[in-house]
Amino acid sequence: MKILVTGGTGYIGSHTVVELQQKGYQVVVIDNLSNSNEAVLDNISKITGIRPDFECFDLIERERTLDFFSRNSDITGVIHFAAFKAVGESVAEPLKYYRNNLVSLMNILEGMQLNKVPFLVFSSSCTVYGQPEELPVSETSPIQKAFSPYGNTKQISEEIIGDFLETSDVKCIALRYFNPIGAHESSLIGELPLGIPNNLVPFITQTAIGLRSQLKVFGNDYNTPDGTPIRDYIHVVDLAKAHVIAIERMTNGNNKKALEVFNLGTGNGQTVLEVIKSFEKVSGEKLNYVIVERRAGDVEKVWADTRFANAELGWKAAMSLDEMTLSAWNWEKAIANK
Ligand code: UD1
Repeated sequence: MKILVTGGTGYIGSHTVVELQQKGYQVVVIDNLSNSNEAVLDNISKITGIRPDFECFDLIERERTLDFFSRNSDITGVIHFAAFKAVGESVAEPLKYYRNNLVSLMNILEGMQLNKVPFLVFSSSCTVYGQPEELPVSETSPIQKAFSPYGNTKQISEEIIGDFLETSDVKCIALRYFNPIGAHESSLIGELPLGIPNNLVPFITQTAIGLRSQLKVFGNDYNTPDGTPIRDYIHVVDLAKAHVIAIERMTNGNNKKALEVFNLGTGNGQTVLEVIKSFEKVSGEKLNYVIVERRAGDVEKVWADTRFANAELGWKAAMSLDEMTLSAWNWEKAIANK
């Protein structure tokens, strides 16, 4: 079975390509390389022995996207990762985010419709829940007004898909990710942030390796056990595996609705200081960090109710926080040595 992975040279995309290939799927990747590197494909092939087919173009180009689908109408499923994801940048450049994240989705849906490609897996985010009133947060918790244009593109995308499915035979599973971290055990693929990382774990590993002088911990006056915010960190390989299961669920006809939504997290919350402690333990490095003011837009605490995903998908995140921080550190060391 042939699966299109958009954004397949990116962080979660590359790990998902590996899991798909290892399950016997043929993979074709579309990526415009705006935040990734073609060499990722070589590293995927070092892991799996197969270099995925690759087309480099921008999915906001409607004609090119439709042309791709007309040439590849044998595709069974699309896993759509390709999107911008930097929260702060989306506040500064909202149109860039709306255009990229929404137009590309609409072009893909149109291409799927025209060529009868039946199944879509969509990358959504726990950001759609904002600061939930009740924790853990389940799939039926209310969607809150988005904190950023980035978050809004995820909410609007889910709505676009929902409306589109009313008029189409396409089926979709939207996966709401909590905080993906870590890297493949081979240390051949991982997160490759361009410039200064926005996210916690790449900032930790880049500080420890000497690329950044100091980690800023954004606030320790939250209502949490140590005062720092709580997130549900999940290993990127656990996350990637859920995408393969989502494809299998639809191809086996086990989906119960045209649009199903699942939370992908571990079900456990960890504070920023707990992540730092785990990193220091597994790496043996002392991290240089300082507590500073809160970061605008950060929620206090969020972690997933994973019961629905566990029961329906037969999937459960397996890796511990220490395994996550160790794999992230091994990856940082591997890229430093190149
Ligand atoms: C954010 C977005 C999420 C998006 C994800 C990927 C929100 C609310 N969340 O997640 O939707 O999918 O990025 O880009 O918009 N921290 C520090 N110092 C740092 C960096 C982070 O203390 O240098 C803290 C943050 O305050 C937060 C935690 O680490 O408490 C995790 O932050 P981060 O990795 O940026 O992820 P989120 O903000 O949770």
